[in-house]
Amino acid sequence: MNLLKLAVLVSGRGSNLQAIIDGIKKGDLSATISVVISNCQNALALNRAREENIPTVFLDPKNFFCREDYDLALAEKIKEYEADLVVLAGFMRVLSPSFLDKFPLKVINIHPALLPSFPGTHGQKQALEYGVKVTGCTVHFVDQGVDTGPIIAQRAVSVHDDDTEKSLAERILREEHKLYPQVIQWIAEGRVKVTGRIVRVSGMNQGTVTDSSCY
Ligand code: GAR
Repeated sequence: MNLLKLAVLVSGRGSNLQAIIDGIKKGDLSATISVVISNCQNALALNRAREENIPTVFLDPKNFFCREDYDLALAEKIKEYEADLVVLAGFMRVLSPSFLDKFPLKVINIHPALLPSFPGTHGQKQALEYGVKVTGCTVHFVDQGVDTGPIIAQRAVSVHDDDTEKSLAERILREEHKLYPQVIQWIAEGRVKVTGRIVRVSGMNQGTVTDSSCY
């Protein structure tokens, strides 16, 4: 099988990037990371990539007149590194329609809530404040809305009475680290089919996995 070439876009800590790197190193992922790109010069994620000798690019938003110009440069970098799939891993910028048009169904994102609940920023805090008993994480294709694209898979996490935003975020993150590499592997295996906004993964009955703490 040909390796799926990934461009991973990051803004911060990079623990999801690390989970993908670890999945590749363990042989669980038929993929290679062609480039890691960040809008933040000091993102810890860039250090994680450098430690693995993965090419990194810092694209400074301050050097661009507007979002479209930035996204044009971003698209050019991704094409230069010949990536097959754009993986948003804590990338805290909304991508413009002109960018997304260049990569139809080739951009995926991970979000720390069970979409369509709690889109945007601070999904964990939103879930706590709303009082839901179950939340989780979602991997979805990126469309022109904010966290509105076709859902590929989700993992559920129970909310505990004594949870803080931090404790809940940590429990969700553990599930993110299982889910994201798994979805990328499904895509690498050509098992993910999209009809409208419905995503089917061949060989799977459903795309939601519940962690044991939900019972
Ligand atoms: C993750 O929890 C991810 O789900 C979230 O940012 C964190 C990045 O962590 N993404 C969003 O909230 C996107 N709306 P990481 O840098 O350690 O992977």
